[in-house]
Formats: sequence, structure tokens, C-alpha cells
Amino acid sequence: MTSSHPLKISPSILSADFGRLAEDVAEAEAGGADEIHFDVMDGQFVPGITFGFVVLQAVRAATSLPIDVHMMVKEPARYAAEYAAISNLTMTAHVESTNDIEATLREIESSGIRPALTLNPDTPVDAIMAMLANVDRVLVMTVVPGAGGQSFMHEMLPKIEALAALRDSSHSNLEIAVDGGIKVDTAPLARAAGATTLISGSGIFGHADGVRAGVASIRAAADSIG
Ligand code: DX5
Ligand code: ZN
Repeated sequence: MTSSHPLKISPSILSADFGRLAEDVAEAEAGGADEIHFDVMDGQFVPGITFGFVVLQAVRAATSLPIDVHMMVKEPARYAAEYAAISNLTMTAHVESTNDIEATLREIESSGIRPALTLNPDTPVDAIMAMLANVDRVLVMTVVPGAGGQSFMHEMLPKIEALAALRDSSHSNLEIAVDGGIKVDTAPLARAAGATTLISGSGIFGHADGVRAGVASIRAAADSIG
């Protein structure tokens, strides 16, 4: 069932070498990445603080790939108007980050950015069910958001399966992205469960043979399920 939904590989620059960010992004693109994953943390929705608009501009200058901006921030729509100056973005909003996710998605969309929806590991799929008609992409967190290099939570696989079953029964092209702990051993599990987009930070930028090899290794592992 998965083969009818093309696989996308999305390197998360959270694990890039920020002393050579442009080179790492260019290497990811040259290695066959389909998009770049950009983790924004505000120190409130999650404890850590990462980066925002000016770094996003630098990434945009380094690649023409789509960029998925993963907003681990409270009220992510506050940033939509500013980020809309950057081309070819998806803004992924957490259902837990606002009291009005419907308005949040609407504001993101009306700014000209493609909206997507995500949920924390302890949030059930039911919490986003009513919103699925408003997006064409959903992100399943397979770690607690906030840091790279954590272990994949296998107990999240049924969420991916449930979303894939919904997608297939409605004949939609819902993209199902997975973020957290994606390595060569877990990529096939997420793919087999129905994921279409595999986000990986340490698995790609921490690869012993370099960024290109990292992208290729995740793709090969996911493709190995046939
Ligand atoms: C975690 C971030 C992820 C992170 C994944 O909060 O949302 O995108 O970069 O890192 P890995 O692939 O190392 O688990
Ligand atoms: Zn992320």
C-alpha cells in the first residue's frame, strides 16, 4: 500500500553543523533530500530555544528545496506573516500549541504558507481528526519534541497506521510525516506503517560517511520494505 505514496526524505538541520550550515544543506540536497526540516523552539512550548527567521533566510539562500518549518512554539500563527516572505514553506503547527487550532491553520494558510498539523506522542489521533480536512499533511511525533538524538517511540506506530488507514479509505493524498528517532533501523518500520515523509536529524547529519550517505541510507532502508 505504501508504494503508491512516494517517499520523501526530510533532513532536520537541528543536527547540522551550524558552522557550515549552507554546505550541510547543499549536501543534503545533492544527496537527494526532498525537503529540509527546520525546527523552531521558543523556550515555552518546549524548554529549548533554537532559531527563527534570519536562519530560515540563510537556509532558503542555500537551497531551492521546500522547507518544513516545525513550530515548537506557542501560538505559531504569530509568525506566519513574517515567514511568508520566504518561498516554498510548509508551517507545521502543534495541536497542543493553541486553543484554536482551526484559526491557527487558517491564519497560516491565508498568509500564503501551506499549513500542516502535528501532535505530541501523548496526544491521541482523535484530537486532530476533525482538522484533517483542513490540511494535506500531518506529522506524527515519534519522540517528545525538544531535542534531537532521542530514541524512536515504537508505540507511535499504530498512530501512523491509523492515519494511513484513514488516508487510504478516503483515497486522499494525505502526506504522513514522521519525526524523531528515524534511523536505518526505524525508517522501514515507519514506512511500513504508512509514512510518506521521513524526517531525520542525527541519522543524516550525524552519519559517519557524511550527509549524502546519511540521506541515501535512510532512503535505502525505507525502500527495503518493497
Ligand atoms: C525534535 C525535532 C526533530 C529532531 C529529530 O524535537 O522536532 O525534528 O531534529 O532529530 P532526530 O532525527 O535526531 O531524532
Ligand atoms: Zn522537528
